[in-house]
Amino acid sequence: MSSDDIPNTPSRPARRGFLKAGAALGASLGAASGLAKAAEAKHHAMATDPMLAVEPFYGEHQGGIVTPQQAHTYVAAFDLTTTSRDDVINLLRKWTESAAQMTQGRPAASLDGTGDDHPAPDSGDVLGLGPAGLTVTFGFGPGLFTSQEKDRYGLASKRPAALVDLPRFNGDQLIAQKTGGDLFVQACASDAQVAFHAVRQLARQGYGILNMRWGQAGFLSGPRGQTPRNLMGFKDGTNNPPTTDPKAMNQFVWATATDAPWMQGGTYTVVRRIRITLEHWDQMELGFQEQVFGRRKYSGAPIGQKKEFDNVDLDAQDKDGNPLIPENSHVRLSNRASNDGAQILRRSYSYNDSTNFYIERWPPWRQETEYDAGLIFIAHQGDPRTGFIPINERLAKFDMMNQFTTHVGSAIFACPPGAKPGSFIGAELFNA
Ligand code: HEM
Repeated sequence: MSSDDIPNTPSRPARRGFLKAGAALGASLGAASGLAKAAEAKHHAMATDPMLAVEPFYGEHQGGIVTPQQAHTYVAAFDLTTTSRDDVINLLRKWTESAAQMTQGRPAASLDGTGDDHPAPDSGDVLGLGPAGLTVTFGFGPGLFTSQEKDRYGLASKRPAALVDLPRFNGDQLIAQKTGGDLFVQACASDAQVAFHAVRQLARQGYGILNMRWGQAGFLSGPRGQTPRNLMGFKDGTNNPPTTDPKAMNQFVWATATDAPWMQGGTYTVVRRIRITLEHWDQMELGFQEQVFGRRKYSGAPIGQKKEFDNVDLDAQDKDGNPLIPENSHVRLSNRASNDGAQILRRSYSYNDSTNFYIERWPPWRQETEYDAGLIFIAHQGDPRTGFIPINERLAKFDMMNQFTTHVGSAIFACPPGAKPGSFIGAELFNA
């Protein structure tokens, strides 16, 4: 174990925001003392039970972008099969209404009056579970605007310049079935079933209009108030721009002022499915693992520093004049100082998709079962041309971590601003 110690006390404010409704409820029930006690108990439950947390759906921005990261996600991308613009608009209307309902802990659509002879509009598998801090985030892929050079929905001229096709990066091993997509849905919640349920209800509403292209469950838990660790055992998210600072979010995360009016308040989201060879990583010495990242494993501090949130000092040297944070370390290569000041907001999740059996009939003749696990890397930014793309170009070429990671899936989406009550996600794009 390195000299730095594992800190036990939360170093940041609690990650989760809990519903003010708890407070409101407590206040309104305060008259009689019996009622007050009941209210207090309920308020306490709402303030501490993550299953009762509620995140707002409507607003200037969509939820799930700067929302404190919930422990679970289900992300999915869809290919549109319809040729009708109205179908797409109607679907987005339905999606907006259902997502708003589900984030409040209600079924995707009212179950009242569902006859025995009809499929119910909600699968029912999370009835009574609570909202669990659910957020649902929608995005539009390049294929919504132009597909095989066809302007399917009259939107080609509205494709934002920042919604570029991602270039091929060094070492990319992309699997077509895990790459791309015309529409994106990200559901995040403190419960895995609640997150999956949300995407499943929305997917079924698109029957006959779209096909699911890929879906992926993810998880990431940390002690409350602390940065969670990814499967490599390192704290992940430490040096993100602060989500509580609107100025930083405007500078790095929300679409730029010169972007299309319908994208104001939105962001561009890059998703990469990155497989990690955990078996290989687990054989590496602790000191080497720390060199790979440029940070201490247990404390999360940059090498040469003491605490997790200490400054990443790229100029720091050892007594022989060698850089303390290695030239090819992940943190040096991705730091803003190495990328013309570029910053992105990472909100990634680990994934674990069971195992694969490999058999190789050439040296070194191996037969083994390996985890199919890694990171669903999710990054939000105002413009991928100055955010993810240049940073990943540098990482793909030089990052020491590449010995352990392979990018197997990739997608980019324009996530529009939040919907206004009564309207729907992307309404301004469709002028509807
Ligand atoms: C399996 C893949 C990856 C893992 C396990 C990983 C893990 C980490 C860890 C542990 C840190 C240090 C703590 C922190 O500041 O959050 C970090 C920092 C960072 N990573 Fe990654 N990362 C991965 C892929 C990527 C990719 C693909 C990009 C972008 C193209 C990226 C961009 C960054 C940035 C910008 C930082 C902050 C660096 C700084 O300013 O100090 N990472 N990552």
